[in-house]
Amino acid sequence: MNAEIVKPLTDWYRANRRDLPWRHTSDPYRIWVSEIMLQQTRVESVKAYYQRFLEALPDLSALAEADEERLLKLWEGLGYYSRVRNMQRAARTVVEDFKGAFPRTKEEMEKLPGIGSYTAGAVASIAFGERVPAVDGNVLRVWARMTADDRNILLPSVKKEAERDIAGLMQTLPAARTSGQDHPGAFHENAAGDFNQALIELGALLCLPGEKPLCEACPVRPFCGAERRGLAGVLPIREKKTERRIERRTVLLVRSGELTAVRKRPDSGLLAGMYEFPNVRGELTAEQAVAYTSENGYDALRIRPLPAARHLFSHVEWRMTGYEIRIGALSGERGRSAHGRDWIFADAKELSGERPLPAAFSAYAKLIHVFPGKGKSREEEQEERNGR
Ligand code: ADE
Repeated sequence: MNAEIVKPLTDWYRANRRDLPWRHTSDPYRIWVSEIMLQQTRVESVKAYYQRFLEALPDLSALAEADEERLLKLWEGLGYYSRVRNMQRAARTVVEDFKGAFPRTKEEMEKLPGIGSYTAGAVASIAFGERVPAVDGNVLRVWARMTADDRNILLPSVKKEAERDIAGLMQTLPAARTSGQDHPGAFHENAAGDFNQALIELGALLCLPGEKPLCEACPVRPFCGAERRGLAGVLPIREKKTERRIERRTVLLVRSGELTAVRKRPDSGLLAGMYEFPNVRGELTAEQAVAYTSENGYDALRIRPLPAARHLFSHVEWRMTGYEIRIGALSGERGRSAHGRDWIFADAKELSGERPLPAAFSAYAKLIHVFPGKGKSREEEQEERNGR
């Protein structure tokens, strides 16, 4: 990419940047939290989660010590839960191995769990002013257009080349003077951090994906190869190799009075450690669903079909059918089945407040007035409005 873009792009960024909560700090912890959240989630949605997360866990040691369910609850609705588990592992490593001092270079950061080249580059440049690139999908789009590169940007080799190219260009920037302090004006000017954020901002505000980027307003239009060749709406090329695997599942809302059965998922794999409604692979008939329930120790009184639902994960699509199964009063201790199996019966309040349910189950959860990701059930919000 042409080094002449640095000044107009950075000037444009400094004049036009959005006022975002993570742009008021140079605390690496806070910047790291924002970058992890922003990886799969839109800026507008991240804002509220970000504030709440940092109020609950204001520093690395709070994150390192946080109870797992609290952590998952704070993340509920953001999805891709391995992100927050890795953050905790990384925080523990920093606390235990680095005496709580966040690593100051991209190279060191990349050794931590869940911190890849993009995140390390973003935190190292924004918090410490290190002249290293932070190339995510949006920056890759900007780069492919600026350089009119028509190779598949989903190939790791193309991303590496973009990183090399941007790293080279960043060596023309002035080095940082002060860094890593959480007070306003810690930097006079953070050339590297601002340049990376300028690329991000250009991708978010003007160099939009799809056919109609806003080239008229672009501060680096004269340097754009795609624009010159009439390819701005065509590039970048993204060719996906793998399709999502389709998995059919049957989800059961097994209900006793106001209580509904959930169970904890295994500690590894998809949605590790979260709660879920009992569910099985395949499309069960009503008879099979009743049989499955009785194998788990509960006799169905009534069963009714629920609407179909689907949920997209990165590699799998769940196509779900559902049944509501009514069972009788529970014997034994409330909340635990009398048979000692792994189903736990909880009401809407407990499911909303204490047992993180993934958004994959939203279509069924809402039938019992639980809204994953909203933190509180409608009833609780209603109660708060009523002043109870
Ligand atoms: N997306 C990824 N990183 C970002 C940042 N620092 N600001 C705004 N959007 C982003």
